[in-house]
Amino acid sequence: MNVVIFGTGYVGLVSGACLAEVGHDVVCVDIDAAKVEGLNRGVIPIYEPGLEATVAGCHASGHLKFTTDAAAAIAHGELIFIAVGTPPDEDGSADLQYVLAVARTIGQCLDKAAIVVNKSTVPVGTADKVRDAIAAELAARGIELPFDVVSNPEFLKEGDAINDFMRPDRIVIGADSSLAVEKLRHLYAPFNRNHDRLVVMDVRSAELTKYAANAMLATKISFMNEIANIAERVGADVEMVRQGIGSDPRIGWHFIYPGAGYGGSCFPKDVQALARTAQQMGYDARLLNAVEAVNESQKGHLFELIERHYRGALAGKTFAVWGLAFKPNTDDMRAASSQALLAKLWATGAKVRAYDPEARHEARRIFGERSDLELCDSAQAALQGADALVVVTEWKQFRSPDFLNLQIVLADRVIFDGRNIYQPQEIEAMGFSYYGIGRGRSASPNR
Ligand code: UDX
Repeated sequence: MNVVIFGTGYVGLVSGACLAEVGHDVVCVDIDAAKVEGLNRGVIPIYEPGLEATVAGCHASGHLKFTTDAAAAIAHGELIFIAVGTPPDEDGSADLQYVLAVARTIGQCLDKAAIVVNKSTVPVGTADKVRDAIAAELAARGIELPFDVVSNPEFLKEGDAINDFMRPDRIVIGADSSLAVEKLRHLYAPFNRNHDRLVVMDVRSAELTKYAANAMLATKISFMNEIANIAERVGADVEMVRQGIGSDPRIGWHFIYPGAGYGGSCFPKDVQALARTAQQMGYDARLLNAVEAVNESQKGHLFELIERHYRGALAGKTFAVWGLAFKPNTDDMRAASSQALLAKLWATGAKVRAYDPEARHEARRIFGERSDLELCDSAQAALQGADALVVVTEWKQFRSPDFLNLQIVLADRVIFDGRNIYQPQEIEAMGFSYYGIGRGRSASPNR
């Protein structure tokens, strides 16, 4: 099928590449000429495992093209996807300016019947606004054309997005017309094997489904972080508790890992946006507000542990920080807990030597050059001259470090483990002080 995708950000690029991979003819449109030019040369602006190879293959086969020419792209497509960003407004609601700008462009260029598919995460009711914006532009041109606006939210995890797109658990389609459903069924047929993964519903329910999924996952995380905080106070180990509850299929093993708080481009923004939508409709979403509040304080928790260990005397200390990205296998630092930690450490006069396998450039872009930050080329280099180690992101390569070496290089022999990747007993037996998240049983002498 002929597909157009507006937006070559994370969602647009992954969707475009995966649709082209199964043989659809995809044209991706972006207003950023430099980005489009780079993509045409095979330069992928984000780090996502497998994406570069998929884009290169589809580009070479002619199934995937990049352009800034919206009119030509719209002429090509029977399915027009909107996959542009919806950043938070000052009050936390989703900012729809980019989505509506694309809608207006579609209305200005459309010359045949089309199905407009919204993939951006948007508040309930946005499809109506998109429909109105397109209709207004068509009316201004004196044209009448049939078109549908469909909601088709994405559930892609950064770091595993290609796999999520290729092997989806479900494909949610919110549509008011059976023709639109049939077209999307056809589009997604290559990904819809073994059993029917299409969940067809009305547009508003599909829009809310996306927020509900992310809010539920964020709630699980904040819940476990709250249990971790209680565990610390009552002398229990949240890792034991996690294992004790995860085996109950009603609870499940996923998303019950306590840590340094959730970050990324989705959870923080979507929880806030859903709470604001509720508020605008006169409903106080107390649970969602609490999920957000717990997460905000959790992002400061590692620092609290550090401050407690050093009894506030942090000036002049040097911390090796392993991991800056909001999670492993990405270079994304949006709303990452590392940002909150570094800001707090710097405010006390401490220095940071940080290493992240992928996010160094992003860190340089965000923090710039500063004398209290050394961005290192390896985990080992970050340890040089450090007093303590802080693990913020659970990259695989941090899981089994050379502890003998750590004993020698870390002046204060203390490890702050923001993702509970080490065993407290083992670490303490080697002579380190160990702090994890919710590991209240710890025999650390400094507690
Ligand atoms: C999320 C959703 O999973 C995805 O379906 C949606 O489309 C976009 O948002 P993503 O933001 O890429 O994906 O990351 P995810 O793997 O969900 O992790 C989000 C954050 O939660 C990370 O900071 C991670 O460290 C944290 N997390 C996750 C925990 O703290 N504990 C957990 O148990 C799981």
